[in-house]
Amino acid sequence: MSGDRELDVVVFGATGFVGRLVAGYLAGHAPGGVRAGLAGRSQRRLAEVRAGLGAAAAAWPLLVADSADPPSLAALARAARVVVSTVGPYRAQGLALVRACAEAGTDYADLTGEVLFIRDSIDHCYDVAARSGARIVHGCGFDSVPSDLGVLLLHLAARADDAGDLQDTTLAVMALRGGISGGTLASLMGQQDEVRASAARRQMVADPYALSPDRAAEPDLGDERDLDWVRYDGGLRMWMGPFAMAGVNTRVVRRSNALQGWAYGRRFRYREVTGFSASPAAPLLAAMTGAGLKTVQAGLEFGPSRALLGRLLPAPGQGPGEKTRSTGYFRIQIHTRTSAGVRYLAAVEAQGDPGYAATSVMLGQAALCLALDRDQLPGRAGVLTPATAMGAALAARLRAAGHTLTTRQLTQ
Ligand SMILES: NC(=O)c1ccc[n+]([C@@H]2O[C@H](COP(=O)([O-])OP(=O)(O)OC[C@H]3O[C@@H](n4cnc5c(N)ncnc54)[C@H](OP(=O)(O)O)[C@@H]3O)[C@@H](O)[C@H]2O)c1
Repeated sequence: MSGDRELDVVVFGATGFVGRLVAGYLAGHAPGGVRAGLAGRSQRRLAEVRAGLGAAAAAWPLLVADSADPPSLAALARAARVVVSTVGPYRAQGLALVRACAEAGTDYADLTGEVLFIRDSIDHCYDVAARSGARIVHGCGFDSVPSDLGVLLLHLAARADDAGDLQDTTLAVMALRGGISGGTLASLMGQQDEVRASAARRQMVADPYALSPDRAAEPDLGDERDLDWVRYDGGLRMWMGPFAMAGVNTRVVRRSNALQGWAYGRRFRYREVTGFSASPAAPLLAAMTGAGLKTVQAGLEFGPSRALLGRLLPAPGQGPGEKTRSTGYFRIQIHTRTSAGVRYLAAVEAQGDPGYAATSVMLGQAALCLALDRDQLPGRAGVLTPATAMGAALAARLRAAGHTLTTRQLTQ
């Protein structure tokens, strides 16, 4: 259906902070012959971005579209096989484009970490996308690619060994260094405001199965709340504290399980934490991390402290500089134990600021995967997750791009 499109990939939001990085990544890494384009609401600023991308992008078409103008989004969706969107906050700006792509049978990938937006997209666009054949894939950046692919790889390893279903599974962020952009802050604050204003939305985002395709069919595994303070895990021999992105990543991973007919297992208990060693200093470090997270969340919640932080933190369009982006990194471990009692460990790691340098690799490769690897992708359409839309094909691409994604069985 989409073979007749003018373009293979379009980056919508190319004038934004992360949009420029993704466009730059594609200009540097898309194979020759890939027809790419840039989209946004100002032709002039798009031309400036394109001029900074070098010779590879010199002939890329520029498409003018605005989130508030559905006909322009319909034209954008019809122009390409794949649209990647970095136009956020997504809850405010994103749904009309998802709808346009779902209707046009155009694959779509974004960087959202907003649970309320993904839920909206599922409720309004799943059926349309499933009918048209569009793959709508949210969370194709640091939220939630490492989590979603890491757990998928553990499932594939256990299945290959005939080692049973995944049961207790813990993702621990062991090291992370990076910055934050104004667009990410605006998205965080937007979701905070909405949740504070409505008890129903609070209840929704607190639900571990908030993104389930069939809430009533989800298993009852007891308390699955995200960790909100410090704890020692004797089995894993580590202190752990909260991880800021657990609230979205865990829901995406549980959705992946459900979309695959609960292939990971009906007793798959999943959590995400910040991991520390078992050293004497570890509980203090974990407590400091937990307290720091709560302080930032509280600071962004209330008018006066938000205004103060607003003066210190980046505005929309701004983000971490070149040095922060290149010296950043993340190292994630995912531990699981299967129904047969076999233990596995996944490592997911990359050099580069997780939310910007590494994320532009993840979203750029997701775009190429959707555009170029179609015959290797799972036969699914609808509102999907990175694991259920692209799975092993995206993992292979990320490895080839220098990211680490490995699994190994641990001795008992
Ligand atoms: N999941 C992750 O790991 C991850 C990592 C990084 C970022 N993000 C998310 O990515 C999003 C973008 O972040 P950012 O820092 O790049 O934000 P940003 O610099 O503020 O960029 C926002 C982009 O949206 C465009 N835009 C705004 N309103 C629009 C409209 N009505 N129509 C068309 N375009 C419009 C802006 O265009 P103009 O230039 O015309 O204003 C700009 O290109 C945020 O939601 C952030 O949370 C996620």
